Amino acid sequence: MMVIADHPITAKAHTNIALVKYWGKLDNQLIIPQNDSLSLTLDEFYTQTTVQFLPELSADEVIFDNERLSESASKRVRTFLDHVRQLAGINFHARVITKNFVPTAAGLASSASGFAALAGAASRAAGLNLNRRDLSRLARRGSGSATRSIFGGFAAWQQGQDDATSYAYPIDEQPTWDIAVVALVLNAKQKKISSRVGMRLAVETSPFYSAWIKASQADFETVKTAIQNEDFELLGHTSEQNAMRMHALTLSSDPNFTYFNADSIQAMNMVKELRLQGISCYFTMDAGPNVKIICQGADAERIRCYFQSSFGQDQVLVTRSGTGISISN
Ligand code: ADP
Ligand code: DP6
Ligand code: CO
Repeated sequence: MMVIADHPITAKAHTNIALVKYWGKLDNQLIIPQNDSLSLTLDEFYTQTTVQFLPELSADEVIFDNERLSESASKRVRTFLDHVRQLAGINFHARVITKNFVPTAAGLASSASGFAALAGAASRAAGLNLNRRDLSRLARRGSGSATRSIFGGFAAWQQGQDDATSYAYPIDEQPTWDIAVVALVLNAKQKKISSRVGMRLAVETSPFYSAWIKASQADFETVKTAIQNEDFELLGHTSEQNAMRMHALTLSSDPNFTYFNADSIQAMNMVKELRLQGISCYFTMDAGPNVKIICQGADAERIRCYFQSSFGQDQVLVTRSGTGISISN
């Protein structure tokens, strides 16, 4: 029987960096994507969220990084809670306390760790005991990239065609090869154009959209093969190409825009410079100016030092493969 938890439930979920990006929905309501995507979960960036459903509350309360959110600012979380209530057949309101150990809305995938953690904590607090596939389907309703953050290591989000078939699955949760990501936090401020708005614009206005879908499906297969064969060069090269193809969609949207800033461009050039020096590393960027450098663990320190000298000590962080979601009892 389903019973609402009589104590707060806490979940921790890590962000993920997409190697093959999701950039566009087929169904905006259910968040069904236009293509398969594939990511690496990161150990250093995560969200911790605590949820309790309580009979005495007359509205949902959301405490985000120690501040109570207004009704409008908590809208996305409340809509998500409505969905959880509907699944569990309950009507109590919830108290949600969430903390991001990642800059929010800066292109470092806070929506991925944020909604994965919320899905985990809210579902268990509501008395639902979901398996990881169903948890990933639930997280998807909050933010597409959250679908993949249920799993550790390399995870794929299969596009599917409806709510039942669009979910993530693990490809390699504990990679035995030492892959690292050097994250450059070049600007931690909130982006002007959210991922949600940016990708919708691409679907609706970019003349390159169908070419993107074709290319990213091919990239998906290539990166999957690269992971199977532990082929770092193929994985890195394909990921870098895929990122630039995605960013070509922002440039070709109407109105056009970009997530790059001057530092992003400098950082991408520096990655190419390192490659000329014989260090195998590749860049990727999500919907924000912050560049992530995919490299092998043995080279991570050297790469970190190289970027720290240009962008500062605190701006450069080495992360490795992270674990999947954990939820308290
Ligand atoms: P990002 O690049 O950080 O993923 P997005 O534009 O995709 O940026 O999403 C940012 C939005 O995700 C925030 O404005 C907020 O609505 C939501 N979000 C971020 N962190 C959390 C969290 N811990 N709990 C709930 N929602 C969150
Ligand atoms: C560039 O998952 O943040 O990071 O589903 O509207 O919440 P919504 O968007 P979101 O988009 C992520 C875009 C991306 C690529 C990716 O993570 O696959
Ligand atoms: Co996001």
